[in-house]
Amino acid sequence: MNGFESIAAAVKARSGLSLSSDKHYLVEARLDPILKRRGLPNLGALADRLRLDAGLEAEVVEAMTTNETLFFRDGKPFDHLRDVVLPDLHADRPKGAPLRIWSAAASTGQEAYSLAILVSEMGSMLGGRRIEIVGTDIAREPLKRAEEGLYSQFEVQRGLPARLLVKYFAKEEAGWRIHRPLREMVRFRNWNLLSDLSGLGRFDVVFCRNVLIYFDHETKTRTLQAIARLMSPDGALYLGGAETILGIDCALVPYAGSPGIFRKQVATAGLIPAR
Ligand SMILES: C[S@@+](CC[C@H](N)C(=O)[O-])C[C@H]1O[C@@H](n2cnc3c(N)ncnc32)[C@H](O)[C@@H]1O
Repeated sequence: MNGFESIAAAVKARSGLSLSSDKHYLVEARLDPILKRRGLPNLGALADRLRLDAGLEAEVVEAMTTNETLFFRDGKPFDHLRDVVLPDLHADRPKGAPLRIWSAAASTGQEAYSLAILVSEMGSMLGGRRIEIVGTDIAREPLKRAEEGLYSQFEVQRGLPARLLVKYFAKEEAGWRIHRPLREMVRFRNWNLLSDLSGLGRFDVVFCRNVLIYFDHETKTRTLQAIARLMSPDGALYLGGAETILGIDCALVPYAGSPGIFRKQVATAGLIPAR
């Protein structure tokens, strides 16, 4: 294995991210700052060092993540959550039982905060029910930014209507900070989707958007199966626009007429087969 191949194998084993040989240039560009910081001449030297240094491996994985995100990305999933899934879950659950929402590849937090804003905007429609939002990501630096809840002018202009910006953010010298009550609705945690997810608890709604595209079929299957196990029986899963569960055995079925949105398959075990 050459340096690129060893690094690609280590990144895939740790994070699921698939780096095909056409990504050679991307890998060199993304890892160049690490090579410089560590005084390493090339990818081969970095690959040798990786074997001895787990901290360095995490750094390399983080450098290979793509953290692109924006508020209310693609719009429709958020409309569906507000108009269909949250009203149904609210109607079906006992009074006082909290609902839990998971932003499973949260990056710098725009998705999780969009969910918090959406819930706040629903106001009395949820009858004061407590909503817990958990944002997780394998990359630590984006999560630190998510926790700060501070966004540049450019970032708040991407997807966030001006009315919601002035209602939920305060202008500071360095940008716009989301109000404390919304920050307190969201808990961010550093978590790898490939690791044991059971410590996160059960979720009624899962947003796992624009991360599975970076995984191969096997990793995608394993991840979707693990997510389905964490979902409540009437829970909903939202994937990214380019993601599908086609050909994946994961106990999830599409919501009729809503591409990219899934619910758990109702178990048919116990039914007596027709003779
Ligand atoms: C393109 S962003 C998606 C952000 C947001 N979900 C959205 O749709 O706008 C993909 C995120 O997935 C994270 N990621 C990649 N592999 C992961 C893994 N194995 N476990 C958890 N997060 C991962 C990356 O760090 C990155 O922040």
